[in-house]
Amino acid sequence: MTQTLAASNDIDPCTLVLFGASGNLARVKLYPGLFRLDSIGRLPADLKILAVGRQEVTLEAWRADIKSMLDAKFKKGYDAAAFERFIARNYYHANPPTDPDAFIKLKNTLSNDAIFPQNLAYFLSVRPVDFAPVVESLAKVGLTQEDKFWRRVVVEKPFGTDLASAKELQSGLTKNLKESQIYRIDHYLGKSALQNILLQRFTNTILEPIWNNQYIDHVQITNTEMLGVGDRTQFYDSTGALRDMIQSHILQTLALTAMELPKDLTPDGVRDAKIKVLEQIRPIPVDELNKHAFRAQYAAGKVNGEKVPGYLEELGNKDSVVETYAALKLFIDNPRWKGVPFYIRTAKRLHEADTRISIRFKKAPLQVNEQDQNWLIIGIQPRECIKMEIQAKVPGLDINTRTIQLDAANRLAEDDTVDAYEALLLNLMQGDNSNYLHISEAEAQWRLVDPVVKAWAADKTPVHQYPAGSSDPEASKVIFEAEDQFWRYSIELGGDKPN
Ligand code: BG6
Repeated sequence: MTQTLAASNDIDPCTLVLFGASGNLARVKLYPGLFRLDSIGRLPADLKILAVGRQEVTLEAWRADIKSMLDAKFKKGYDAAAFERFIARNYYHANPPTDPDAFIKLKNTLSNDAIFPQNLAYFLSVRPVDFAPVVESLAKVGLTQEDKFWRRVVVEKPFGTDLASAKELQSGLTKNLKESQIYRIDHYLGKSALQNILLQRFTNTILEPIWNNQYIDHVQITNTEMLGVGDRTQFYDSTGALRDMIQSHILQTLALTAMELPKDLTPDGVRDAKIKVLEQIRPIPVDELNKHAFRAQYAAGKVNGEKVPGYLEELGNKDSVVETYAALKLFIDNPRWKGVPFYIRTAKRLHEADTRISIRFKKAPLQVNEQDQNWLIIGIQPRECIKMEIQAKVPGLDINTRTIQLDAANRLAEDDTVDAYEALLLNLMQGDNSNYLHISEAEAQWRLVDPVVKAWAADKTPVHQYPAGSSDPEASKVIFEAEDQFWRYSIELGGDKPN
């Protein structure tokens, strides 16, 4: 296998053009992320950052605004010399929506090659409806044309709201861009803990032989949050847990867990293997939906000892059937996974915030005292770890076994903490899109969830409620294939109590 890791000196001189530069993502993630990359010497010396916003802002005021973003993020302060170097990379260009010549002016600004390197990466942190129009406007003035220099476009999540709109967006973009120019974000792919899944699976001889239906009973992919929807009620009520989390982050986690060994670690190698497994997931039978999918909404309850309102109260609409809890049972139709259920679930306002892959193995040949089955757990967040639960004799005169846990941290205290956006920004400049979604991945994911989204939206029966801060609703167990299956909780030993 070949490696694709690149150092800053492998990055071409380039200009990063940030649309929506004064928005929340840019303030909280992109500018602090770029500053950190600069501080650790990972940005090319001549990288420039051109912010594009609707308002007229002087360069001086814009640079002062960037300083306020960094002050807000790095409360303990930062290196003054690193700041001076970073701030000097930054420029601002006003693009008022009412100006018909706005993109011609942008082109004129960028054509100053004494300041701006001509390889251009556009980061579209704008409303999804504006993705294609912005690309169209860039193309009209020749700013997406690749000849001597590369041109790349980053599109934020969500890529469409269903299969049809994803296809429409794709056809809007590909009028002017090749697939290799489009970088679709799923920020989970920028997390080191997600990137670890593929490496941990395939760089360990002991894991691959047991990673199949001969040994595995079922797999659970879980992402739960203690937070509620907060001030995103309108967005959330038009989205729901299935589209917000499962269509993207959770199916990507599943793909990394279930994919075959890629032919190499190049972007095409990794993405081809993920596409293949995503396309092998059996469509969810809508006529038997109740056995394969479960939804619920959080009601008022207590989180960390504090009373919190229910979803419908926050929304101010008691008729909404939009789910804040979604669980699916999936099967993958290939020889490795034939007959192995994958239970995937996500929830807001559950009793714990945890993202993990939990794998339960089949019964061992010798059963002593109804022993537990082996579990292997890959913790993604908050703790990055790998754990294995095995049976061992209880020391003493009797023949008895108990579960012990082998626990290894995948992250050590001294390890660098890199935000997902930092990793993705670096990959963008390197031209490595392995951690960005290919269109076939986005489409496969929509194809899978669309029928469930539609069936749930059409069914106006009041949705099952769970008190905020509780564990999974009892009724969610309806999707389990076998009586002895249960939701695996905390990754700590003993966290696997059947509910
Ligand atoms: C976002 C979802 O994509 O991911 C949010 O829209 C969710 O609802 C978030 O809270 C979770 O991301 P992370 O990185 O905090 O696990």
